[in-house]
Amino acid sequence: RLLSVVLSGGAGSRLWPLSRQAYPKPFMKLGGATLLQQAIERGQACGTGKLMIVTNKDHLFLTRDVLRQISDPPETTLLLEPKGRNTAPAIALAALQCTAQFGGDTVMLVLSADHLVPDVEAFVASASEAFRLAEAGNLVLFGISPTSPDTGFGYVEVEHVSRESQRVKRFVEKPDLATAQEYLATGRYYWNSGMFCFTADAILESFERHAPQVLRAARNALASAKTSEDMMQFDMHTFGLQPDISIDYAVMERADNVHVVPAKFGWSDVGSWPSVAKALTPDASGNTMPADVVAIDTTGTHVQVQSHGPKVVATVGVSDLVIVDTPDALLVAHKDHAQQVKKVVDTLKARH
Ligand code: GDD
Ligand code: MG
Repeated sequence: RLLSVVLSGGAGSRLWPLSRQAYPKPFMKLGGATLLQQAIERGQACGTGKLMIVTNKDHLFLTRDVLRQISDPPETTLLLEPKGRNTAPAIALAALQCTAQFGGDTVMLVLSADHLVPDVEAFVASASEAFRLAEAGNLVLFGISPTSPDTGFGYVEVEHVSRESQRVKRFVEKPDLATAQEYLATGRYYWNSGMFCFTADAILESFERHAPQVLRAARNALASAKTSEDMMQFDMHTFGLQPDISIDYAVMERADNVHVVPAKFGWSDVGSWPSVAKALTPDASGNTMPADVVAIDTTGTHVQVQSHGPKVVATVGVSDLVIVDTPDALLVAHKDHAQQVKKVVDTLKARH
């Protein structure tokens, strides 16, 4: 028994100004289809006939639009959040609901709605290894071989890097740059892809042990949820009592039965502008920009333009920039500092 759980939340603040509260990353089209549609189809390709999407209630209609694009839609349950409470509550709610609907021995394949995995077949191969480990009661994460000391990821240390799955010695969520550099140099670390696999029983037991307050709050939120057709809607008050914490801090850093399945597939967490650029094919100067941008002596620069009418964009003598233009906001950032774009969002929020 297999269930896809797609987490479709988070505004993707490092992709400001394109990804906003009203139109977040999962609904961005990259490579023909929205990232959410690609996540759902990735799960289906692994043989999960059932689907649970955890998303904000404001995105119900955008989500339904995406589901309509799927030719053979799976049996779907929508968990509609009144506000974001991060991934630990989202996964706890999905595991409790999964137990009630399908049984605690169901294997949950937890996917992010904002990843790019171009080779679905290779993903399916890794997933079948993950299913085997999950059925034995382990918490499984898909590990990515790190290519840079990126501080936007969780790092998992293993005994020695191999092609097979292995037990995690240590999980460190978003280390600082010096620590990330150190980890990279040892060659014993993977990045956490943010895609997980476990039975509902196994993850609920881990919540019980490592984050009982998350589980308790999730039970209360579920008890007061309203169910209609394929949707569950949560009550703002009890939902809001859940702690705002990610699965990485709440469980993965603390549990001792975490296993890594090294990814055999290409993966991009389109989490920041440089990673979007990496997922695209650069021109001879390493630029990723629309063909009509006038680029003079420009290298390694990403330009994205989303204006209402025609607009000429030109760059002269610059390198490694990110330039994103939308009708009401313009971003100019250095690629090396692109993780800090979320500070722009924080600053704007504080002004309101
Ligand atoms: N439904 C719901 N509700 N989904 C959420 C919420 C929420 O409150 N918060 C986040 N999500 C979804 C996001 O949409 C995304 O698909 C996924 O959960 C992960 O959240 P991010 O906010 O993107 O996490 P991150 O990128 O900072 O870090 C995680 O992913 C990295 C890889 O991309 C961690 O798991 C890291 O360890 C990991 O390396
Ligand atoms: Mg992310």
